[in-house]
Amino acid sequence: SRLEMFVDELPDMPKIRGFDVVDGVPKSKLLNIGMFKKNWKFHRDLPPTPVFAYGETTESATVPGPTIEALHGIETHVTWRNHLPSKHILPWDPTIPTAQPTTRKGVPTVVHLHGSIGEPASDGNPNSWFTNAFQQVGPTWTRKTYRYLNRQHPGNLWYHDHAMGLTRVNLLAGLIGAYIIRDPNVEAHLRLPAGDEFDRTLVVFDRSFRTDGSIYMNSTGNNPSIHPQWQPEYFGDAIIVNGKAWPKLTVRRRKYRFRIINASNARFFRFFFTNGLRFIHVGSDAAYIKRPVSSKDVLVGPSEITDVVVDFSKSKSKSFILANDAPYPYPSGDPVNEANSKIMKFVVLDHPEVDTWRIPKQLIYYPKADLADAMRTRYIAMYEYTSDIDEPTHLYLNGKPYEAAATETPKVGTTEVWEVINLTEDNHPLHIHLGLFVALEQRELVNVEEFKDCMTKFNDAIRCHIGKYARGKRVKVPIHERGWKNVFKMTPGFVTKIIVRFAYLHSNASYPFDATAEPGYLYHCHVIMNLKSVGENMASKGLALI
Ligand code: C2O
Repeated sequence: SRLEMFVDELPDMPKIRGFDVVDGVPKSKLLNIGMFKKNWKFHRDLPPTPVFAYGETTESATVPGPTIEALHGIETHVTWRNHLPSKHILPWDPTIPTAQPTTRKGVPTVVHLHGSIGEPASDGNPNSWFTNAFQQVGPTWTRKTYRYLNRQHPGNLWYHDHAMGLTRVNLLAGLIGAYIIRDPNVEAHLRLPAGDEFDRTLVVFDRSFRTDGSIYMNSTGNNPSIHPQWQPEYFGDAIIVNGKAWPKLTVRRRKYRFRIINASNARFFRFFFTNGLRFIHVGSDAAYIKRPVSSKDVLVGPSEITDVVVDFSKSKSKSFILANDAPYPYPSGDPVNEANSKIMKFVVLDHPEVDTWRIPKQLIYYPKADLADAMRTRYIAMYEYTSDIDEPTHLYLNGKPYEAAATETPKVGTTEVWEVINLTEDNHPLHIHLGLFVALEQRELVNVEEFKDCMTKFNDAIRCHIGKYARGKRVKVPIHERGWKNVFKMTPGFVTKIIVRFAYLHSNASYPFDATAEPGYLYHCHVIMNLKSVGENMASKGLALI
């Protein structure tokens, strides 16, 4: 039996202020946020689902977790506390390198603030995990309280689990939340839709459920002889927004801002409105774009964020659907079906309104990195090693697994060009911790098979004459994605050129932390998968700054 769509109201997640105000002056604040096992109602007709939820208390914990609202320039400190039981609620895979407590039981967790520019010790390295009450900690664990600087662009971040080998199941269990950095000094004059009613965060992900309400995760492999337990990618049939399956929202005839986070493990969304209403883009991952751009659809990969204004006064229908038509895996997987092609429903009130919000001509311009400043060019090849019966077994970056020593060692504060070569069949959203980048162009590879053969042997793009192959058609970066980002979609069969700045705080201020300290950072594809004998749960590699 199918769950009925559009029966639950869209909730807003609780908000937690990441700063104090003392005598009118904002001061940094210490938050205590726990991870709890509890039951969560994803749908009116679905029995309560056991989840792992972030919150200040068990009672207030939610899926997704509370939205943390930070203030630019004021530090937020968080003691992330693991209150989870000794056993996971989902089946995890002991055959891949995984954080595993040896002396006591417990679910290892560690929190990464995705998009943050901060010190390595607060970055949530996969091996800095900890269990309930810090009874056991991973090899790179150093501290209980994480320090977030909030000195970067005002914009949209999110926090999520990052524990070695368990990220996939910990996210599926619910360890996800939004984090917004605001800077009233530069944002107020824009007069974009603001306040709880008109500035909403939408955290979107897919899940499947059993009839008893529990989250369904398949525990038999596509091909058990290669992969005894799981399928590499997780796709669920129900689409959840702010913790409810296919919710509905009644809106007034005026502009709203939506900060939309794709928190799925593997699903891409190509959002569009069934009544043709447009998205007016104002920002993307962690930053504003220069000026608003309007589009009729928007492709958002796992972990990408799109920040849009929607003007409901332009709606010609009373109700309509936010829909999705992205195949899964993207781009050449199955087409969407009735369930996963619908996200949520909007009902527009009849009454006309005076709208005081506007869409300014200019937003906030952060000067582009200059190619002339680039210290060097790196070639990063994403390559899936497939067995003879066609199951992917390893997904490596430059032929190296996660455990290999960091090969990318940029200098703090510098600019580099990265040419990312995607030799897999799927689109991979590349995420770089600490590095903000601008996507410049995508160029199709010609004679890919020949190039692949060489790369299989040497894993060296220069030695394999990348220039000879990167000669196909050029694809432009969509206008609304030309600003600073921390995730960009690497088209399969293409080389994507990005210009990256490490530890970029959009000012010439010196970096107030030691970005070169252990345990460093990561860069990885954000399709969170599980491949046998890989050692990574996100095809990641260490990034060490020097
Ligand atoms: Cu969204 Cu390494 O993280």
